[in-house]
Amino acid sequence: MQQLTVNLDDRSYPIHIGSGLLDRVELLAPHIAGRQVCIVTDDTVAPLYLDRLIRTLADYKVLPVVLPTGEAFKNWATLQQIFDALLGARHDRRTTLIALGGGVIGDMTGFAAACYQRGVDFIQIPTTLLSQVDSSVGGKTGINHPAGKNMIGAFYQPKAVLIDTDSLRTLPDREVSAGLAEIIKYGLIRDEAFLDWLEQNMAGLLALEPSLVTAAIARSCAIKAEVVAADEREGGVRAILNFGHTFGHAIEAHQGYGTWLHGEAVGAGMVMALQLSAALGWISAAQQQRGTALIGAAGLPTAPPPNMAAADFTRLMAVDKKVLDGQLRLVLLKRLGEAVVTADFDNQTLRSVLAAAG
Ligand code: NAD
Ligand code: GLY
Repeated sequence: MQQLTVNLDDRSYPIHIGSGLLDRVELLAPHIAGRQVCIVTDDTVAPLYLDRLIRTLADYKVLPVVLPTGEAFKNWATLQQIFDALLGARHDRRTTLIALGGGVIGDMTGFAAACYQRGVDFIQIPTTLLSQVDSSVGGKTGINHPAGKNMIGAFYQPKAVLIDTDSLRTLPDREVSAGLAEIIKYGLIRDEAFLDWLEQNMAGLLALEPSLVTAAIARSCAIKAEVVAADEREGGVRAILNFGHTFGHAIEAHQGYGTWLHGEAVGAGMVMALQLSAALGWISAAQQQRGTALIGAAGLPTAPPPNMAAADFTRLMAVDKKVLDGQLRLVLLKRLGEAVVTADFDNQTLRSVLAAAG
């Protein structure tokens, strides 16, 4: 088992990564203050792992809450089901919420924990590759609004993150590729040597070879932990973690949440961000092609949906959370392995990239 730490002073927390961790109550117990535990999961993950986690927590009073699966349910109505269950079972302020599932469950459970009785503890047990390398770490929680992705939420850190790599065995191939999008993101924004390694090992990663997947998760979590520790509430550098996301979120909102997976939209969005970085002359055409090829090799789309026009992107990108005083800021690459958050790009160049994509 590997252990990393997200360093946030008195709110620091461990990330445990390894095989068989779902059975290890000693990794959870130090982070559970009372006897009440509420496991939040979805109706896809529940038949796979819920009973096992309940057995691990046999010494606690466990309330399972099983939500409908999918991005389309990351909304107020589903969130309300968590509060209804907690209040119905009279969970008090010492309750601990556990998110067992992908990023949708993690984001909603974290937001519920941030709000319930003005804040209770929560633990992340991510079960998709995407949630293991990204969403379970860093404390961004929330739900979607029809007008924009993740528009309602809170920064609220978990007490611990438990990554059982065995849970990936049941993950559909499409979801594996979606997770690889965020892994590739870390290489593009922060670590060119990791990008080399991903190029060399993509076939093994797609086949979920345990040592490779564990190494990719550990490197991704280490980069994310470092960035979050430097800028927890995204006043600056943390925004680089959104590389490709401004385009990607527009794709998700336009297609209807859940039609394109988040990782797929991020894949196509990163290709567009590479195009813009190259069009501005910041990276070479060869570097742009190298990044695009890696995204394609991971089984991800390298172009946005054909039914999206430039005007759709412009409209939807205007509600991005990085917009400040009406000005759009984007994460672009200065070189492979170095990202910047900037409003300093030529709008005509952006329009031509959007027009070429649509
Ligand atoms: P998801 O939660 O929808 O899970 C994907 C699918 O896999 C679902 O159908 C789920 O039921 C299923 N599943 C989960 N674990 C499984 C397993 N072990 N075996 C079989 N099936 C399994 O999607 P996701 O890709 O995990 O997360 C995407 C969400 O995460 C988006 O809402 C995105 O906005 C959010 N996100 C948040 C952050 C953050 O920092 N908070 C970062 C990145 C993404
Ligand atoms: N996934 C972007 C962030 O956590 O900041």
